Amino acid sequence: MTIKIEKVTVLGLGTLGAQIAAQAAVSGYDVSAYDPDEKVFHRSMEAFMAIDQSKVRPSPIKVSEWSAAAGKIKMHSSLSQAVSEADLVIEVVPENLDLKLKIWREMDEAAPENAILGTNSSSMPVSKLEGAVRQPERCLNIHFYHMTMGQNMADVMGGTMTNAEVLKAGIEFVRSLGVVPLKVNKEILGFCFNRVWRSIKRETLHMWADGFVDFKDVDRAWMIFTGTSWGPFSLMDTVGLDVIYDIEMVYYNESNDPNDRPPQLLKDLIDAGNLGVKTGKGFYSYPDPEYSSPDFINP
Ligand SMILES: NC(=O)c1ccc[n+]([C@@H]2O[C@H](COP(=O)([O-])OP(=O)(O)OC[C@H]3O[C@@H](n4cnc5c(N)ncnc54)[C@H](O)[C@@H]3O)[C@@H](O)[C@H]2O)c1
Repeated sequence: MTIKIEKVTVLGLGTLGAQIAAQAAVSGYDVSAYDPDEKVFHRSMEAFMAIDQSKVRPSPIKVSEWSAAAGKIKMHSSLSQAVSEADLVIEVVPENLDLKLKIWREMDEAAPENAILGTNSSSMPVSKLEGAVRQPERCLNIHFYHMTMGQNMADVMGGTMTNAEVLKAGIEFVRSLGVVPLKVNKEILGFCFNRVWRSIKRETLHMWADGFVDFKDVDRAWMIFTGTSWGPFSLMDTVGLDVIYDIEMVYYNESNDPNDRPPQLLKDLIDAGNLGVKTGKGFYSYPDPEYSSPDFINP
């Protein structure tokens, strides 16, 4: 059985949903989408295009063609309409289990029987969602990363019953976008690279919040060590501090280990409305964050 994917539906068009929808459209897929916020796609694309692509590493992904491709995405006024002809549905809604379960039930009811159902969740293994659908063997995690890094990658992981052909189709779909698939052989919280990134987040957030170091020195060190133009704190700003907090809470709720609890100082930033790039302020201020200055590394 070879599974053919031609029609892709993206549910949720915020930071990551807009990226995935545009990337699928530029790669020639017939893309449908739905978000209850009709203006979010435009905002997400503007924020994405504002990232200076000349500063990221060379990538096979043709961002210059995204604006034209974005115009081809079919926007729908309901979830059921958006998924009705999909070969693959990718859910990209906020990191909240109850919300995701509700949407998974709705998409299962309205999508074609053979559609593959995927979640872009950063922290929830699909086994937490598969009970909401009739065919758990057609479910998978398909987790794209924010494209700040230029070359993109995506974790692909099955749940407890995912069919091998479904996993293979997910991997081939990712590859067809010019994105590197990271196959996860057994279910693990955090997938492949997200688990690595998560340990960096936890450690650096606590080093900052407990007063050991200035977050800018952590970013400087990271930039020198890896040769990138950003560090962990600038990347957290790009992802969104609210998103980071929610993800860390999922790990904490899973382990109940107090060391896994995100620091109160991060919560304070969020409560003050400082969510990172999307609100103009997080650890740094935007649109011209300090770490973009040539003097930043060696002030
Ligand atoms: N932000 C990142 O860098 C990043 C990276 C990888 C994975 N993710 C994951 O992607 C998912 C979305 O994150 P995001 O940062 O794009 O969030 P976001 O808040 O930017 O966007 C979520 C969107 O979902 C929409 N939405 C809410 N209810 C909906 C519904 N019933 N149907 C359709 N859309 C609905 C919202 O209106 C919003 O536009 C999360 O699971 C997150 O863990 C995020």
